[in-house]
Amino acid sequence: MPLQSMVPMLKKAQMEGYAVGLFDVHTIEGTFAVIEAAVEQRSPVIVAPFYVPRRAVVALIRELAADAPVPIAIELDHGREFKAVMECIRAGFTDVMLDASTKPYEENVARTRQVVEAAHAAGLGVEAELGHVGFDESYADVSVRKAAFTRPEDAQRFVAETGVDALAVAIGSVHGVFKGAGEPELDLNLLDRIRERVDIPLVLHGGSGLSDEDFQMAIQHGSSKVNIYTDMAVAAVATMRERLADPDVRYVQVGQAVQEAIKRVVVRYMQVFGSADRA
Ligand code: 13P
Repeated sequence: MPLQSMVPMLKKAQMEGYAVGLFDVHTIEGTFAVIEAAVEQRSPVIVAPFYVPRRAVVALIRELAADAPVPIAIELDHGREFKAVMECIRAGFTDVMLDASTKPYEENVARTRQVVEAAHAAGLGVEAELGHVGFDESYADVSVRKAAFTRPEDAQRFVAETGVDALAVAIGSVHGVFKGAGEPELDLNLLDRIRERVDIPLVLHGGSGLSDEDFQMAIQHGSSKVNIYTDMAVAAVATMRERLADPDVRYVQVGQAVQEAIKRVVVRYMQVFGSADRA
């Protein structure tokens, strides 16, 4: 089917109580793996290409989507500048994220509003981030993470002031491999309070490293989209190491094994998020 914006996908997920996965990809194996997983699981999916020529990768995904009986969206993940957003609009992405979450509140609003105007005029959906989901050792400390948590009253104001379609909120997860003590802990009570004030789909970033139970609880308490990258990358590297230990391995076999490894990760997440069989 033709490419679709993630907005209707996420509204349906919100109403029916599951989450749609966004999977970051930067290779052709990763792209094939995510789309094959979606087709096999009959799941809606959001593909987020990075480090790739944008127009070319949209053309590839559009062709794969045409043959796929499931809805597929292409989102710019963590766009930092208006310029990158415009490039993605022109390249044919279906959705964009503007991440100005490290900026002061008013600047985040102004930048997000500018993107919403341009993207909505072109028919794209927009995600923004309020509060900040960190990604390195500086967020290992729980008090540092908490200081960046999303405040429910700010979220309500932000959505009203910007007109965004989906909002990434900081409730305790981190991007990448978790470097803190123990496990990342989600503040579900905070998520409830945000959900009470905001009716657009909420997004959980930093999915890798959370438990299946964390996802199930986050979805029950109001997350309708989960972003995943690190677990796919870790599986790909582990598979490469294992295959390269065989001195006779052929290049094509390494690529195929990596694609299968990424696909297994994506399939599992689709089942955990409850998006399988929802296409
Ligand atoms: P992980 O790398 O922790 O899975 O997070 C991915 C993400 O949130 C991308 O936006």
